[in-house]
Amino acid sequence: MKVTIVGAGAVGASCAEYIAIKDFASEVVLLDIKEGVAEGKAMDLMQTASLNGFDTKIVGSTNDYSKTADSHVAVVTSGIPRKPGMTREELIGINAGIVKDVVSNLIKHSPEVIVIVVSNPMDTMTYLTHKATGLPKNRIIGMGGALDSARFKYRLSEALECPASDVDGMVIGGHSDTGMVPLTRLAVRNSVPVSKFLSEERLAQVAEDTKVGGATLTKLLGTSAWYAPGAAVSALVQAIACDQKKMFPCSALLDGEYGLSDICIGVPVILGKNGIEKIVEIELDDAEKAKMKESAEGVKKVNALL
Ligand code: 2OP
Repeated sequence: MKVTIVGAGAVGASCAEYIAIKDFASEVVLLDIKEGVAEGKAMDLMQTASLNGFDTKIVGSTNDYSKTADSHVAVVTSGIPRKPGMTREELIGINAGIVKDVVSNLIKHSPEVIVIVVSNPMDTMTYLTHKATGLPKNRIIGMGGALDSARFKYRLSEALECPASDVDGMVIGGHSDTGMVPLTRLAVRNSVPVSKFLSEERLAQVAEDTKVGGATLTKLLGTSAWYAPGAAVSALVQAIACDQKKMFPCSALLDGEYGLSDICIGVPVILGKNGIEKIVEIELDDAEKAKMKESAEGVKKVNALL
């Protein structure tokens, strides 16, 4: 199974690394427009194969899409990342043109490809990919909710003073500082609702810290994060490549689900070999419904800038 990652920046390269370490793909093609960078990172990663014990072949390419031919999954990380103080939405002008171009090149060489969009503003870039390609909606997936949920679980584990593997929780809605909807009501520690252990105020703080998770890291790092984004993408790629039928919140094109249409926004989906195999509609309470509606209005405002 072949995977292409467009953009050999920090997110693309860490995604390639996690995919290789998990050893489920036969080949990963890392492509970038900067001369030699993808080849260099691919070679560096290949030199970890004997140390880390994987057989995945990693190939670098400077903008030669013929090397990506017949990919099952392609990850689009291209575009500029945000700098401290910037919102994801401010990137739209530059990133829209880049994403459109990348996706059209990908489809030329892999007509059956499933596309995972990571570039920001992610929900709008996912929507743009649908509009620009007209691909079936199961084959275009936006990565945001898997990352935001991982950050939510981290913040919950911090508040509960327990390992993240002891907690479960999900973030739906737009992948933006104001659009995320962390579902604190449904979060659990080993099947016990977290509200049994944490006060309403502490849970509200967990939700707030989750929503600004990306901005917090951008401030610390001077650019946007890469380890958790790379790991989140690799989990989605694995679910598709290995036909796992796992549930992740992802940005999906909605057609009436959650009372929303003509929008890509984070909702729980089942991922398998066909990409989005199903959109899962969970029962939200009135407060969650209102937050989801507000989040969708925010995403639509950004979509209107396309
Ligand atoms: C983040 O939240 C890259 O949007 C991504 O870190």
